Amino acid sequence: MNIAIVGSGLVGQAWAIVFARGGHQVNMWDGDPAAVKHAQTLIAKQVADLFAAGLITDPEGLIGRIKGVATLEEALADAQYAQESLPERLETKKEIFSRMDALAAPTAVLASSTSSIPASAFTENLAGRARCLIAHPVNPPYLVPVVEICGAPWTDASVVQQAWDVMEGVGQKPVKIHKELKGFVLNRLQGALLREAFRLVENGYVDAEGLDVTVKEGLGLRWSFMGPFETIDLNAPEGLADYAHRFDEMYQAMSLEQTSTEHWSEDVIQKLEAQRRSLLPKDKLLARRLWRDRRLMALAAHKKSAEK
Ligand SMILES: NC(=O)c1ccc[n+]([C@@H]2O[C@H](COP(=O)([O-])OP(=O)(O)OC[C@H]3O[C@@H](n4cnc5c(N)ncnc54)[C@H](O)[C@@H]3O)[C@@H](O)[C@H]2O)c1
Repeated sequence: MNIAIVGSGLVGQAWAIVFARGGHQVNMWDGDPAAVKHAQTLIAKQVADLFAAGLITDPEGLIGRIKGVATLEEALADAQYAQESLPERLETKKEIFSRMDALAAPTAVLASSTSSIPASAFTENLAGRARCLIAHPVNPPYLVPVVEICGAPWTDASVVQQAWDVMEGVGQKPVKIHKELKGFVLNRLQGALLREAFRLVENGYVDAEGLDVTVKEGLGLRWSFMGPFETIDLNAPEGLADYAHRFDEMYQAMSLEQTSTEHWSEDVIQKLEAQRRSLLPKDKLLARRLWRDRRLMALAAHKKSAEK
């Protein structure tokens, strides 16, 4: 299959690796030609790390399937599937989808990586609106496989299925979002956890380090191989309903204190920033990001070996 990557920033370049790893031909375009060159350099580095971690077998073949192109026309010319990853601005999405819809073959699927904007906000007036949808990744998608697939009310069901099949075909884990909502599901879950985490720090119950330990040495250990529903299903002798009946009072009482809709206060932001910087100085951020990716690679390799 021919894939068009529209926007070669952080997310676009990672998508290029996913599709090329899956055996597809990838044409990668960006409004800034320097960004395509930069992406190719970074892709080569990431692919070398993936090979070193034993997660891919043919790095040269993978890189050979990714071609940088100079125009959007060229990227879309033979594409059956296009993945847009331009900045998170409604006007930008509107403009690029209008151009993509005019240039791509009528049967091509047009997907956006947007983290929060529903497809109906930028595809309503397009002739080809039935072939547009969201395929929201988690960064970097070649290491974190979940992809949220969410159509607008007018997206054709067969297009949702095609996007699903493309994602499964390249080893991603698609999740269907049945109705449009801001932030889809993953970021809403993350948002709920972050909101409570900020509140707990703001009210002096815990500091940044203690909160992070609670997740990474507690909740997160299970979450890397099972979700919260499976977790509670296994945490009461008779399963999920038993758990819900035993602990409903406790969660309901806590929820009465979890109703804030305020912005995160500048005070708590600065307090958390200071605590994080004392644990990790700013000039060590990049090195720590690379460390995170190596840890994710080791985890991905472990999960692959542990798959039933
Ligand atoms: N960064 C993340 O963790 C993450 C995760 C999931 C989804 N997303 C979503 O992916 C999308 C891209 O995010 P990113 O982090 O890769 O951004 P980025 O800033 O790294 O990349 C954006 C790219 O778009 C190019 N660009 C900007 N305006 C353009 C235009 N008008 N025409 C053509 N090219 C243009 C830039 O040159 C840049 O290379 C956003 O919608 C974002 O919400 C991001």
